[in-house]
Amino acid sequence: MIRISGLNKSLHGGGHQVDIINGIDLTIPDGQLVVVTGPSGSGKTTLLSLMAGLDAPTSGTILIDDQDITKLNEDELAELRGERFGFIFQSFHLIPTLTALENVVLSAELGGTSNAHKKSVDLLGVVGLAERIHHYPAQLSGGEQQRLCLARAFVNEPDIVLADEPTGNLDSKNSDRILDLMMELHQTRKATVVLVTHEPDIAGKSQRILTMADGKIVEDTLP
Ligand SMILES: Nc1ncnc2c1ncn2[C@@H]1O[C@H](COP(=O)(O)OP(=O)(O)O)[C@@H](O)[C@H]1O
Ligand SMILES: [Mg+2]
Repeated sequence: MIRISGLNKSLHGGGHQVDIINGIDLTIPDGQLVVVTGPSGSGKTTLLSLMAGLDAPTSGTILIDDQDITKLNEDELAELRGERFGFIFQSFHLIPTLTALENVVLSAELGGTSNAHKKSVDLLGVVGLAERIHHYPAQLSGGEQQRLCLARAFVNEPDIVLADEPTGNLDSKNSDRILDLMMELHQTRKATVVLVTHEPDIAGKSQRILTMADGKIVEDTLP
């Protein structure tokens, strides 16, 4: 369970204050798939960064189960991220000098997963990359790279997967495939998924849609 209360993030610059996150209260039960949408600049990426402890709020609490992550130090946060989180970004953040398989195995090992090699191979099969495991990221198409990122994000059996516009750089066919895979992995692997996307099709398939504007959640619907 994720419980966010009274969350604010402000930045100071040029003599004035900019409120990026503006009083967010949000509870996400375990296993829910939440789609976050809203215009550019509305605070979606900042909210995800705060949820992952990659950024610190100005005020407010973020409980992951009963642990307030805003109180953890960098080492504790790194451990928490490795063990419990999976991340998927718009630009892939793959390691260019490692093969597809090595990218996934590294993530599995960093997360302390047992059977890292077997789990990585299995998951690369699930995302349709069985024939590509020894390719380097540069030898893969954009859609393939993003499927590799899905495998990397799910290999540690994370409790929470945070995805920030994972289809932003893909054509519609590849976008659909990524979103379908995300749904499938969410179902089979029982993770909580927070997915920032502008894809209209996803709305009908998700369990909950949050709409952000000006650092606030302005709509919270269960389709
Ligand atoms: N490090 C930063 N310094 C200054 N402004 C920032 C910084 N990070 C985000 N912002 C501003 O905060 C607002 C929200 O950004 P962001 O969370 O990236 O929104 P979104 O992901 O919805 O496009 C934007 O107006 C952005 O310009
Ligand atoms: Mg963003």
